[in-house]
Amino acid sequence: MQTLTIIQPDDMHLHLRDGDALQAVVPYSARQMGRAVIMPNLKPPVVSVADALAYKARILAALPAGSTFEPLMTLYLTDKTTPELVREAKAAGIVAFKLYPAGATTNSDSGVTDLFKLIPVLEEMAAQGVLLLVHGEVTDADIDIFDREAAFIERIMKPVLAKVPDLKVVFEHITTAEAARLVQEAGENVAASVTPQHLLLNRNDLLVGGVRPHHFCLPVLKRETHRQALVAAVTGDKAHKFFLGTDSAPHARSAKENACGCAGMFSAATAIELYAEVFEQAGALDKLEAFASKNGARFYGLPENTRTLTLIKQPQSVPESVAYGSDTLVPMRAGGEVAWSVQY
Ligand code: DOR
Ligand code: ZN
Repeated sequence: MQTLTIIQPDDMHLHLRDGDALQAVVPYSARQMGRAVIMPNLKPPVVSVADALAYKARILAALPAGSTFEPLMTLYLTDKTTPELVREAKAAGIVAFKLYPAGATTNSDSGVTDLFKLIPVLEEMAAQGVLLLVHGEVTDADIDIFDREAAFIERIMKPVLAKVPDLKVVFEHITTAEAARLVQEAGENVAASVTPQHLLLNRNDLLVGGVRPHHFCLPVLKRETHRQALVAAVTGDKAHKFFLGTDSAPHARSAKENACGCAGMFSAATAIELYAEVFEQAGALDKLEAFASKNGARFYGLPENTRTLTLIKQPQSVPESVAYGSDTLVPMRAGGEVAWSVQY
């Protein structure tokens, strides 16, 4: 049977939530990922160093016994973030601030209303080597939801990079050819995370034959040409600038199958297996390890993990749902099969 052993991967974009939800989902990531960059969009958001350290302690307490999984903590950028907070964050081991444009997605009400007013904060981040993680979508009502990432590049990303050219930026969960190109053409201080859903699915998977609420995430799935551009980016010339970030974002089934369904797909249970499908289909399995286990660590200035993970070309069935506190969670590919398995 075909096997593939790689350095243990890291998930550079993960939502773990809190409380019962955290308890339910963290074992899935801890089982296959060495580390994960933890998103701060809790209710209320993680805005202070004290919040982040307390949240980190809750994550560590929720881990299965013996787990060596390491959460890398981030803070939620707000209109009130100061350069002093950036220095405090750096000293406390916080790796990044996350930009959510106000209103862009789940729990983004406290998000930034005008990033250009935060230039001194961004300059301090550049000076301290603290990363800016970007949810790259504009929220202007006049911009079509399918165009919001491309508009963000022109209205926000390029002008901000021009003003703070040394800022290390991760363009998170990119979904378009335009975002892939921006990253490819930018300096080495700009990289991107890419989710399994944006590499495997297009907007037909969301809308053809009926609305599929479990395929709704933000940024929304795009047309097939964009999916192909993302696959080309993660396997191409500048592949070192792209890395694994699942954006696994659990929402209870009742919140997804709803008249106003929440955005987010839960992929953590079979994340590396889904990415293996992408790279195999592209004839680039030899590039999976760099994407999953090297490029993100290098960009964050971290050593590679010392453990390894072995994938086997053996299909596994994905359950229809998994436990999630008093509700259930419908994972990506629910009721279907993933072509690869992990040897645990
Ligand atoms: O689909 C998404 N879900 N996109 C985001 O940006 C946030 C996330 C969540 O927290 O549920
Ligand atoms: Zn996210």
